[in-house]
Amino acid sequence: MPADTLTITDNRTGREYSLVITDGTIRATDLRKIAAVDGDGGLMSYDPAFLNTAACRSAITFIDGDAGILRYRGYPIEEVAEQATFLETAYLLLEGELPTAEQLAQWEDDIRLHTYVHTNVTRFLEGFRYDAHPMGMLLGTVGALSTFYPDAKQIADPENRYLQRVRLIAKLPTIAAFIFRHSHGLPYVYPRNDLDYIGNFVNMTFEIGGRYEPNRVLERALEILLILHADHEQNCSTSAVRGVGSSHVDPFSAASAGIAALYGPLHGGANEAVLRMLDQIGDIKNVPAFIESVKAGEGRLMGFGHRVYKSYDPRAKLIKEVADQVFEQTGLNPNLEIALELERIALEDEYFVSRKLYPNVDFYSGLIYQAMGYPTDYFTVLFALGRLPGWIAQWEEMLNDPEQRIARPRQTYVGPDVREFVPPSAR
Ligand code: CMC
Repeated sequence: MPADTLTITDNRTGREYSLVITDGTIRATDLRKIAAVDGDGGLMSYDPAFLNTAACRSAITFIDGDAGILRYRGYPIEEVAEQATFLETAYLLLEGELPTAEQLAQWEDDIRLHTYVHTNVTRFLEGFRYDAHPMGMLLGTVGALSTFYPDAKQIADPENRYLQRVRLIAKLPTIAAFIFRHSHGLPYVYPRNDLDYIGNFVNMTFEIGGRYEPNRVLERALEILLILHADHEQNCSTSAVRGVGSSHVDPFSAASAGIAALYGPLHGGANEAVLRMLDQIGDIKNVPAFIESVKAGEGRLMGFGHRVYKSYDPRAKLIKEVADQVFEQTGLNPNLEIALELERIALEDEYFVSRKLYPNVDFYSGLIYQAMGYPTDYFTVLFALGRLPGWIAQWEEMLNDPEQRIARPRQTYVGPDVREFVPPSAR
Protein backbone atom coordinates (compact mmCIF):
# COMPACT_ATOMS: atom_id res chain seq x y z
CA MET A 1 0.00 0.00 0.00
CA PRO A 2 1.59 3.39 -1.00
CA ALA A 3 2.49 5.51 2.04
CA ASP A 4 0.64 8.66 0.95
CA THR A 5 -2.78 7.08 1.01
CA LEU A 6 -5.67 6.77 3.40
CA THR A 7 -7.47 3.46 3.76
CA ILE A 8 -11.15 3.65 4.63
CA THR A 9 -13.41 0.74 5.45
CA ASP A 10 -17.11 1.38 4.89
CA ASN A 11 -18.78 -0.64 7.63
CA ARG A 12 -22.11 -0.41 5.81
CA THR A 13 -20.79 -2.55 2.98
CA GLY A 14 -17.52 -3.97 4.29
CA ARG A 15 -15.73 -2.47 1.27
CA GLU A 16 -12.29 -0.94 1.59
CA TYR A 17 -11.12 2.17 -0.26
CA SER A 18 -7.75 3.79 -0.72
CA LEU A 19 -7.65 7.57 -1.11
CA VAL A 20 -4.58 9.51 -2.24
CA ILE A 21 -3.19 12.11 0.20
CA THR A 22 -1.61 15.19 -1.46
CA ASP A 23 -0.23 18.10 0.57
CA GLY A 24 -2.03 16.84 3.68
CA THR A 25 -5.41 16.67 1.99
CA ILE A 26 -7.69 14.08 0.47
CA ARG A 27 -9.92 15.07 -2.41
CA ALA A 28 -13.52 15.39 -1.28
CA THR A 29 -14.65 14.14 -4.71
CA ASP A 30 -12.76 10.87 -4.06
CA LEU A 31 -15.34 10.18 -1.34
CA ARG A 32 -17.96 9.82 -4.04
CA LYS A 33 -16.79 6.35 -4.84
CA ILE A 34 -17.72 5.27 -1.30
CA ALA A 35 -21.33 4.28 -1.95
CA ALA A 36 -23.69 2.32 0.34
CA VAL A 37 -25.76 1.30 -2.65
CA ASP A 38 -24.55 1.57 -6.23
CA GLY A 39 -25.76 4.85 -7.72
CA ASP A 40 -26.45 6.66 -4.43
CA GLY A 41 -23.89 9.34 -5.35
CA GLY A 42 -21.40 8.30 -2.67
CA LEU A 43 -20.24 10.07 0.47
CA MET A 44 -19.92 13.82 0.89
CA SER A 45 -17.92 15.63 3.57
CA TYR A 46 -20.05 17.86 5.81
CA ASP A 47 -18.18 21.02 6.81
CA PRO A 48 -20.34 24.01 7.71
CA ALA A 49 -18.32 27.25 7.62
CA PHE A 50 -15.39 25.40 5.98
CA LEU A 51 -13.64 24.65 9.27
CA ASN A 52 -11.48 21.98 7.67
CA THR A 53 -11.88 22.26 3.93
CA ALA A 54 -9.24 23.60 1.53
CA ALA A 55 -11.14 25.20 -1.34
CA CYS A 56 -8.06 26.02 -3.42
CA ARG A 57 -4.32 25.66 -3.77
CA SER A 58 -2.75 29.07 -3.22
CA ALA A 59 0.77 30.50 -3.46
CA ILE A 60 -0.06 33.93 -2.03
CA THR A 61 -0.24 33.93 1.76
CA PHE A 62 1.02 31.44 4.32
CA ILE A 63 -0.44 31.33 7.81
CA ASP A 64 0.51 29.03 10.67
CA GLY A 65 -2.16 29.89 13.20
CA ASP A 66 -0.65 27.87 16.05
CA ALA A 67 2.80 29.41 15.63
CA GLY A 68 1.50 32.93 14.93
CA ILE A 69 3.17 33.12 11.48
CA LEU A 70 1.97 35.20 8.53
CA ARG A 71 3.92 35.52 5.28
CA TYR A 72 3.14 37.21 1.95
CA ARG A 73 4.64 35.21 -0.92
CA GLY A 74 7.14 33.78 1.56
CA TYR A 75 8.20 37.07 3.14
CA PRO A 76 7.49 37.40 6.91
CA ILE A 77 4.83 40.03 7.60
CA GLU A 78 7.17 41.71 10.09
CA GLU A 79 9.74 42.40 7.34
CA VAL A 80 7.18 43.50 4.77
CA ALA A 81 5.49 45.86 7.25
CA GLU A 82 8.80 47.34 8.30
CA GLN A 83 10.41 47.78 4.88
CA ALA A 84 7.84 47.91 2.10
CA THR A 85 5.41 50.56 0.94
CA PHE A 86 1.78 49.64 0.45
CA LEU A 87 2.06 49.69 -3.36
CA GLU A 88 5.18 47.52 -3.19
CA THR A 89 3.24 45.06 -1.03
CA ALA A 90 0.35 45.12 -3.50
CA TYR A 91 2.80 44.39 -6.35
CA LEU A 92 4.29 41.50 -4.37
CA LEU A 93 0.88 39.96 -3.71
CA LEU A 94 -0.28 40.43 -7.29
CA GLU A 95 2.86 39.53 -9.23
CA GLY A 96 4.41 37.04 -6.82
CA GLU A 97 7.78 38.82 -6.55
CA LEU A 98 9.09 42.05 -5.08
CA PRO A 99 9.36 44.66 -7.85
CA THR A 100 12.71 45.91 -9.13
CA ALA A 101 13.18 49.69 -8.84
CA GLU A 102 12.08 50.03 -12.47
CA GLN A 103 9.02 47.81 -12.07
CA LEU A 104 7.99 49.69 -8.94
CA ALA A 105 8.30 53.07 -10.68
CA GLN A 106 6.16 51.79 -13.59
CA TRP A 107 3.57 50.32 -11.18
CA GLU A 108 3.35 53.57 -9.19
CA ASP A 109 3.01 55.54 -12.42
CA ASP A 110 0.24 53.30 -13.71
CA ILE A 111 -1.68 53.72 -10.45
CA ARG A 112 -1.14 57.50 -10.43
CA LEU A 113 -2.58 57.75 -13.93
CA HIS A 114 -5.90 56.23 -12.86
CA THR A 115 -6.69 57.95 -9.57
CA TYR A 116 -9.49 60.11 -10.98
CA VAL A 117 -13.03 58.79 -11.10
CA HIS A 118 -15.66 59.67 -13.70
CA THR A 119 -17.54 62.75 -12.45
CA ASN A 120 -20.80 60.76 -12.58
CA VAL A 121 -19.41 58.73 -9.68
CA THR A 122 -19.63 61.85 -7.52
CA ARG A 123 -23.27 62.31 -8.60
CA PHE A 124 -23.92 58.67 -7.75
CA LEU A 125 -22.49 59.35 -4.28
CA GLU A 126 -24.76 62.38 -3.91
CA GLY A 127 -27.71 59.97 -3.99
CA PHE A 128 -26.78 58.56 -0.60
CA ARG A 129 -28.27 60.06 2.56
CA TYR A 130 -25.95 62.18 4.71
CA ASP A 131 -25.91 59.45 7.37
CA ALA A 132 -25.41 56.46 5.02
CA HIS A 133 -22.93 53.94 6.39
CA PRO A 134 -19.59 54.38 4.58
CA MET A 135 -19.34 50.65 3.87
CA GLY A 136 -22.78 50.63 2.25
CA MET A 137 -21.65 53.52 0.07
CA LEU A 138 -18.35 51.83 -0.73
CA LEU A 139 -19.83 48.52 -1.79
CA GLY A 140 -22.46 50.27 -3.92
CA THR A 141 -19.96 52.58 -5.59
CA VAL A 142 -17.34 49.92 -6.31
CA GLY A 143 -20.10 47.70 -7.75
CA ALA A 144 -21.23 50.66 -9.89
CA LEU A 145 -17.72 50.98 -11.38
CA SER A 146 -18.52 47.89 -13.45
CA THR A 147 -21.03 50.03 -15.36
CA PHE A 148 -18.38 52.68 -16.05
CA TYR A 149 -15.91 50.08 -17.34
CA PRO A 150 -17.91 47.48 -19.26
CA ASP A 151 -14.63 46.28 -20.82
CA ALA A 152 -13.86 44.74 -17.41
CA LYS A 153 -16.02 41.78 -18.47
CA GLN A 154 -13.08 40.56 -20.57
CA ILE A 155 -11.66 38.60 -17.69
CA ALA A 156 -9.87 36.09 -19.92
CA ASP A 157 -7.53 38.79 -21.25
CA PRO A 158 -4.48 39.27 -18.95
CA GLU A 159 -3.84 42.82 -20.22
CA ASN A 160 -7.40 43.79 -19.52
CA ARG A 161 -7.19 42.26 -16.06
CA TYR A 162 -4.06 44.34 -15.40
CA LEU A 163 -5.90 47.51 -16.42
CA GLN A 164 -8.86 46.76 -14.13
CA ARG A 165 -6.64 45.95 -11.18
CA VAL A 166 -4.79 49.24 -11.68
CA ARG A 167 -8.14 51.03 -11.84
CA LEU A 168 -9.39 49.36 -8.67
CA ILE A 169 -6.25 50.07 -6.64
CA ALA A 170 -6.00 53.63 -8.00
CA LYS A 171 -9.64 54.60 -7.54
CA LEU A 172 -10.50 52.98 -4.21
CA PRO A 173 -8.71 55.68 -2.14
CA THR A 174 -10.45 58.38 -4.19
CA ILE A 175 -13.86 56.80 -3.66
CA ALA A 176 -13.12 56.16 0.03
CA ALA A 177 -12.06 59.79 0.53
CA PHE A 178 -15.11 61.09 -1.36
CA ILE A 179 -17.31 58.97 0.92
CA PHE A 180 -15.63 60.55 3.95
CA ARG A 181 -16.27 64.03 2.52
CA HIS A 182 -19.89 63.14 1.70
CA SER A 183 -20.50 62.02 5.30
CA HIS A 184 -19.04 65.30 6.54
CA GLY A 185 -20.81 67.53 4.01
CA LEU A 186 -17.44 68.67 2.68
CA PRO A 187 -16.59 69.34 -0.98
CA TYR A 188 -14.56 66.64 -2.68
CA VAL A 189 -10.80 67.12 -2.89
CA TYR A 190 -9.42 65.67 -6.12
CA PRO A 191 -6.36 63.42 -6.37
CA ARG A 192 -2.95 65.06 -6.33
CA ASN A 193 -0.47 63.17 -8.39
CA ASP A 194 2.55 64.80 -6.78
CA LEU A 195 1.79 62.91 -3.56
CA ASP A 196 2.41 59.23 -2.84
CA TYR A 197 -0.45 56.73 -2.51
CA ILE A 198 -1.04 57.22 1.21
CA GLY A 199 -0.27 60.96 1.24
CA ASN A 200 -2.76 61.50 -1.58
CA PHE A 201 -5.48 59.53 0.22
CA VAL A 202 -4.95 61.39 3.49
CA ASN A 203 -4.93 64.72 1.66
CA MET A 204 -8.20 63.95 -0.18
CA THR A 205 -9.72 62.99 3.17
CA PHE A 206 -8.62 65.76 5.52
CA GLU A 207 -7.57 68.77 3.42
CA ILE A 208 -9.67 71.86 4.09
CA GLY A 209 -8.77 75.17 2.45
CA GLY A 210 -5.04 74.44 2.47
CA ARG A 211 -5.02 74.00 6.26
CA TYR A 212 -4.14 70.32 6.42
CA GLU A 213 -0.59 69.66 7.64
CA PRO A 214 0.61 66.19 6.59
CA ASN A 215 2.10 64.16 9.43
CA ARG A 216 4.64 61.63 8.08
CA VAL A 217 4.52 59.49 11.25
CA LEU A 218 0.74 59.10 11.05
CA GLU A 219 0.88 58.48 7.29
CA ARG A 220 3.46 55.73 7.71
CA ALA A 221 1.39 54.26 10.59
CA LEU A 222 -1.65 54.14 8.29
CA GLU A 223 0.47 52.56 5.56
CA ILE A 224 1.65 49.84 7.95
CA LEU A 225 -1.95 49.11 9.00
CA LEU A 226 -2.96 48.76 5.35
CA ILE A 227 0.00 46.44 4.70
CA LEU A 228 -0.98 44.28 7.68
CA HIS A 229 -4.47 43.92 6.22
CA ALA A 230 -3.37 43.36 2.60
CA ASP A 231 -4.10 39.64 2.50
CA HIS A 232 -5.12 36.90 4.87
CA GLU A 233 -5.66 33.87 2.63
CA GLN A 234 -9.14 32.33 2.53
CA ASN A 235 -10.99 34.57 5.00
CA CYS A 236 -14.69 35.39 4.66
CA SER A 237 -14.36 38.36 2.26
CA THR A 238 -11.70 36.70 0.10
CA SER A 239 -13.84 33.59 -0.14
CA ALA A 240 -16.69 35.89 -1.19
CA VAL A 241 -14.52 37.45 -3.92
CA ARG A 242 -13.41 34.03 -5.14
CA GLY A 243 -16.94 32.60 -4.91
CA VAL A 244 -18.60 35.49 -6.74
CA GLY A 245 -15.66 35.80 -9.16
CA SER A 246 -16.00 32.11 -10.00
CA SER A 247 -19.17 32.99 -11.94
CA HIS A 248 -16.81 35.01 -14.20
CA VAL A 249 -18.37 38.33 -13.29
CA ASP A 250 -16.17 41.45 -13.69
CA PRO A 251 -13.63 42.28 -10.92
CA PHE A 252 -15.53 45.39 -9.72
CA SER A 253 -18.58 43.27 -8.90
CA ALA A 254 -16.41 40.59 -7.29
CA ALA A 255 -14.58 43.21 -5.20
CA SER A 256 -17.88 44.70 -4.08
CA ALA A 257 -18.90 41.23 -2.83
CA GLY A 258 -15.70 41.25 -0.77
CA ILE A 259 -16.59 44.67 0.63
CA ALA A 260 -20.06 43.36 1.55
CA ALA A 261 -18.53 40.43 3.44
CA LEU A 262 -16.06 42.71 5.18
CA TYR A 263 -18.93 44.95 6.37
CA GLY A 264 -20.07 42.29 8.88
CA PRO A 265 -19.18 42.70 12.60
CA LEU A 266 -17.51 39.29 12.81
CA HIS A 267 -15.08 40.23 10.04
CA GLY A 268 -13.99 43.76 9.09
CA GLY A 269 -16.62 45.39 11.25
CA ALA A 270 -14.89 44.09 14.37
CA ASN A 271 -12.71 47.16 15.01
CA GLU A 272 -15.82 49.31 14.80
CA ALA A 273 -17.45 46.94 17.28
CA VAL A 274 -14.40 47.24 19.58
CA LEU A 275 -14.84 51.02 19.78
CA ARG A 276 -18.56 50.70 20.45
CA MET A 277 -17.77 48.16 23.16
CA LEU A 278 -15.22 50.51 24.77
CA ASP A 279 -17.77 53.35 24.67
CA GLN A 280 -20.35 51.08 26.23
CA ILE A 281 -17.96 50.11 29.06
CA GLY A 282 -17.36 53.82 29.56
CA ASP A 283 -14.99 53.63 32.53
CA ILE A 284 -12.12 51.45 33.65
CA LYS A 285 -14.02 50.55 36.85
CA ASN A 286 -16.70 48.81 34.75
CA VAL A 287 -14.21 46.44 33.10
CA PRO A 288 -14.50 43.51 35.60
CA ALA A 289 -18.31 43.51 35.35
CA PHE A 290 -18.08 43.61 31.55
CA ILE A 291 -15.69 40.63 31.51
CA GLU A 292 -18.14 38.70 33.73
CA SER A 293 -20.99 39.46 31.34
CA VAL A 294 -18.93 38.13 28.41
CA LYS A 295 -18.15 34.95 30.36
CA ALA A 296 -21.86 34.57 31.12
CA GLY A 297 -22.45 34.50 27.37
CA GLU A 298 -24.05 37.95 27.18
CA GLY A 299 -21.81 39.11 24.35
CA ARG A 300 -18.30 38.73 22.98
CA LEU A 301 -15.14 40.52 23.83
CA MET A 302 -14.74 42.17 20.44
CA GLY A 303 -11.21 42.23 19.06
CA PHE A 304 -10.42 38.93 20.76
CA GLY A 305 -10.23 35.49 19.21
CA HIS A 306 -9.53 34.34 15.70
CA ARG A 307 -10.60 31.43 13.56
CA VAL A 308 -7.01 30.70 12.56
CA TYR A 309 -4.65 32.22 15.14
CA LYS A 310 -4.80 30.19 18.30
CA SER A 311 -1.60 31.45 19.95
CA TYR A 312 -1.40 35.10 18.92
CA ASP A 313 -2.12 37.21 15.89
CA PRO A 314 1.29 38.47 14.61
CA ARG A 315 -0.48 41.52 13.16
CA ALA A 316 -1.79 42.46 16.62
CA LYS A 317 1.78 42.55 17.94
CA LEU A 318 2.90 44.89 15.13
CA ILE A 319 -0.19 47.05 15.55
CA LYS A 320 0.59 47.60 19.19
CA GLU A 321 3.97 49.06 18.17
CA VAL A 322 2.21 51.32 15.67
CA ALA A 323 -0.24 52.36 18.41
CA ASP A 324 2.64 53.53 20.60
CA GLN A 325 4.03 55.71 17.77
CA VAL A 326 0.61 57.14 16.97
CA PHE A 327 -0.34 57.95 20.57
CA GLU A 328 3.00 59.66 20.99
CA GLN A 329 1.88 62.06 18.24
CA THR A 330 -1.80 62.42 19.11
CA GLY A 331 -1.80 62.06 22.88
CA LEU A 332 -3.56 59.31 24.80
CA ASN A 333 -6.98 58.17 23.72
CA PRO A 334 -9.39 57.90 26.70
CA ASN A 335 -10.57 54.49 25.49
CA LEU A 336 -7.01 53.18 25.45
CA GLU A 337 -6.96 52.86 29.24
CA ILE A 338 -10.07 50.68 29.14
CA ALA A 339 -8.61 48.60 26.30
CA LEU A 340 -5.35 47.99 28.18
CA GLU A 341 -7.27 46.90 31.28
CA LEU A 342 -9.52 44.57 29.25
CA GLU A 343 -6.45 43.02 27.66
CA ARG A 344 -4.69 42.64 31.00
CA ILE A 345 -7.63 40.85 32.64
CA ALA A 346 -8.52 38.72 29.61
CA LEU A 347 -4.96 37.46 29.18
CA GLU A 348 -5.02 36.13 32.76
CA ASP A 349 -8.59 34.89 32.90
CA GLU A 350 -9.14 31.14 32.59
CA TYR A 351 -12.17 31.57 30.28
CA PHE A 352 -10.10 33.36 27.62
CA VAL A 353 -6.85 31.47 28.21
CA SER A 354 -8.47 28.02 27.91
CA ARG A 355 -10.24 29.03 24.67
CA LYS A 356 -7.02 30.53 23.28
CA LEU A 357 -8.63 33.95 22.86
CA TYR A 358 -5.95 36.59 22.30
CA PRO A 359 -6.19 40.15 20.97
CA ASN A 360 -6.57 40.10 17.20
CA VAL A 361 -5.65 42.69 14.56
CA ASP A 362 -8.79 44.68 15.29
CA PHE A 363 -8.34 45.21 19.00
CA TYR A 364 -6.03 48.21 18.59
CA SER A 365 -6.59 49.24 14.96
CA GLY A 366 -9.85 51.04 15.80
CA LEU A 367 -8.19 53.04 18.56
CA ILE A 368 -5.44 54.07 16.15
CA TYR A 369 -7.89 55.08 13.42
CA GLN A 370 -9.88 57.08 15.95
CA ALA A 371 -6.75 58.89 17.10
CA MET A 372 -5.98 59.70 13.45
CA GLY A 373 -9.37 61.38 13.12
CA TYR A 374 -11.43 58.74 11.32
CA PRO A 375 -14.99 58.21 12.59
CA THR A 376 -15.89 54.77 13.92
CA ASP A 377 -18.11 53.69 11.06
CA TYR A 378 -15.29 54.51 8.62
CA PHE A 379 -12.79 52.00 10.03
CA THR A 380 -13.93 49.13 7.82
CA VAL A 381 -13.41 51.30 4.74
CA LEU A 382 -9.73 51.53 5.72
CA PHE A 383 -9.66 47.74 6.11
CA ALA A 384 -11.11 47.43 2.60
CA LEU A 385 -8.43 49.77 1.22
CA GLY A 386 -5.81 47.51 2.74
CA ARG A 387 -7.40 44.22 1.70
CA LEU A 388 -8.05 45.14 -1.94
CA PRO A 389 -4.70 43.88 -3.35
CA GLY A 390 -5.26 40.54 -1.62
CA TRP A 391 -8.75 40.20 -3.05
CA ILE A 392 -7.52 40.90 -6.58
CA ALA A 393 -4.50 38.61 -6.25
CA GLN A 394 -6.75 35.79 -5.06
CA TRP A 395 -9.29 36.50 -7.81
CA GLU A 396 -6.53 36.37 -10.42
CA GLU A 397 -5.14 33.14 -8.96
CA MET A 398 -8.61 31.60 -9.02
CA LEU A 399 -9.09 32.52 -12.68
CA ASN A 400 -5.71 31.07 -13.65
CA ASP A 401 -6.25 27.82 -11.76
CA PRO A 402 -7.42 25.17 -14.25
CA GLU A 403 -8.99 23.16 -11.41
CA GLN A 404 -11.37 25.97 -10.39
CA ARG A 405 -14.94 26.06 -11.65
CA ILE A 406 -18.02 27.96 -10.57
CA ALA A 407 -18.26 27.61 -6.76
CA ARG A 408 -21.19 25.43 -5.90
CA PRO A 409 -21.23 23.77 -2.46
CA ARG A 410 -23.34 20.70 -1.83
CA GLN A 411 -25.89 20.28 0.98
CA THR A 412 -27.47 17.62 3.10
CA TYR A 413 -31.21 18.03 2.67
CA VAL A 414 -33.04 17.74 6.02
CA GLY A 415 -36.44 19.21 5.08
CA PRO A 416 -39.81 17.47 4.66
CA ASP A 417 -40.22 14.55 2.28
CA VAL A 418 -42.45 15.03 -0.74
CA ARG A 419 -45.95 16.26 0.20
CA GLU A 420 -49.02 17.49 -1.55
CA PHE A 421 -49.54 21.26 -2.07
CA VAL A 422 -52.40 22.61 0.09
CA PRO A 423 -54.47 25.48 -1.38
CA PRO A 424 -54.90 28.59 0.87
CA SER A 425 -58.57 27.78 1.66
CA ALA A 426 -57.60 24.39 3.09
CA ARG A 427 -54.60 25.46 5.25
N1 CMC B 1 -15.35 36.72 23.35
C1 CMC B 1 -15.83 35.77 24.16
N2 CMC B 1 -15.87 34.46 23.84
C2 CMC B 1 -15.42 34.12 22.62
C3 CMC B 1 -14.89 35.05 21.72
C4 CMC B 1 -14.87 36.40 22.12
N3 CMC B 1 -14.38 37.34 21.31
N4 CMC B 1 -14.51 34.41 20.59
C5 CMC B 1 -14.78 33.13 20.79
N5 CMC B 1 -15.33 32.94 22.01
C6 CMC B 1 -15.69 31.66 22.64
C7 CMC B 1 -16.98 31.10 22.05
O1 CMC B 1 -18.11 31.52 22.78
C8 CMC B 1 -16.72 29.64 22.17
O2 CMC B 1 -16.90 29.27 23.52
P1 CMC B 1 -17.57 27.83 23.87
O3 CMC B 1 -16.60 26.82 23.38
O4 CMC B 1 -17.73 27.87 25.35
O5 CMC B 1 -18.88 27.80 23.13
C9 CMC B 1 -15.23 29.49 21.89
O6 CMC B 1 -14.66 30.74 22.29
C10 CMC B 1 -14.91 29.23 20.43
O7 CMC B 1 -15.53 30.24 19.65
P2 CMC B 1 -15.97 30.07 18.14
O8 CMC B 1 -17.10 31.02 17.85
O9 CMC B 1 -16.20 28.61 17.83
O10 CMC B 1 -14.68 30.54 17.39
P3 CMC B 1 -14.59 30.88 15.86
O11 CMC B 1 -13.25 30.43 15.41
O12 CMC B 1 -15.77 30.37 15.12
O13 CMC B 1 -14.72 32.46 15.85
C11 CMC B 1 -14.24 34.75 15.74
C12 CMC B 1 -13.70 33.33 15.52
C13 CMC B 1 -13.16 35.75 15.30
C14 CMC B 1 -15.49 34.96 14.84
C15 CMC B 1 -14.60 34.94 17.23
O14 CMC B 1 -13.47 34.73 18.05
C16 CMC B 1 -15.25 36.28 17.51
O15 CMC B 1 -16.47 36.41 17.35
N6 CMC B 1 -14.42 37.30 17.94
C17 CMC B 1 -14.95 38.63 18.15
C18 CMC B 1 -15.07 39.33 16.82
C19 CMC B 1 -13.74 39.74 16.27
O16 CMC B 1 -12.90 40.32 16.97
N7 CMC B 1 -13.55 39.49 14.97
C20 CMC B 1 -12.34 39.91 14.25
C21 CMC B 1 -11.58 38.77 13.73
S1 CMC B 1 -9.96 39.26 13.17
C22 CMC B 1 -10.25 40.24 11.81
C23 CMC B 1 -10.52 39.49 10.58
O17 CMC B 1 -9.67 38.69 10.16
O18 CMC B 1 -11.59 39.73 10.00
